[in-house]
Amino acid sequence: MVKPDGVQRGLVGEIVSRLERKGLKLVGLKMLWLSREKAEELYEIHKGKAFFEDLIGFITDGPVVAMVWEGENAVALVRTMMGALEPTEATPGSLRGDFACTKTMNLIHGADTKENAEREIALFFSPDELVDYRRCDEEWVYGRHHS
Ligand code: PPS
Repeated sequence: MVKPDGVQRGLVGEIVSRLERKGLKLVGLKMLWLSREKAEELYEIHKGKAFFEDLIGFITDGPVVAMVWEGENAVALVRTMMGALEPTEATPGSLRGDFACTKTMNLIHGADTKENAEREIALFFSPDELVDYRRCDEEWVYGRHHS
């Protein structure tokens, strides 16, 4: 998900473009402005932590772009391309390494496991909003015998 700072800073295209050029397949895309309830659901594992209110305030402060990406090891690939949460540890070449300076305003949220990805997708998309198709370059991304 492109967070409100990514939208406000005009980085939606940059983020989509990097994931797209990596070879990941975009199968769902939606701009929305999160309600407090949705934001609390998204971040339910952080409820009770000291930064929870700041996090909810930030993520509901402007529109976000929810995205669903598919591909082999998609969760791990996206996390690597996002970069580390700690700004001083996010390597150049990652999204946060190139564009983020704080732990809060860090452009992008990505699920950390396949199970969490499925839970988060269901928060924002109905099944008929996810598109099943084949990218014409798949055999050039994964090899000729990719099915
Ligand atoms: S934890 O407790 O280690 O699991 O939390 P962490 O992985 O550090 O961060 C989880 C998400 O909370 C955001 N975060 C913050 N928001 C506001 N203020 C502060 N101080 C803060 N610290 C962490 C952080 O951006 C993570 O967001 P997501 O969207 O999950 O990347």
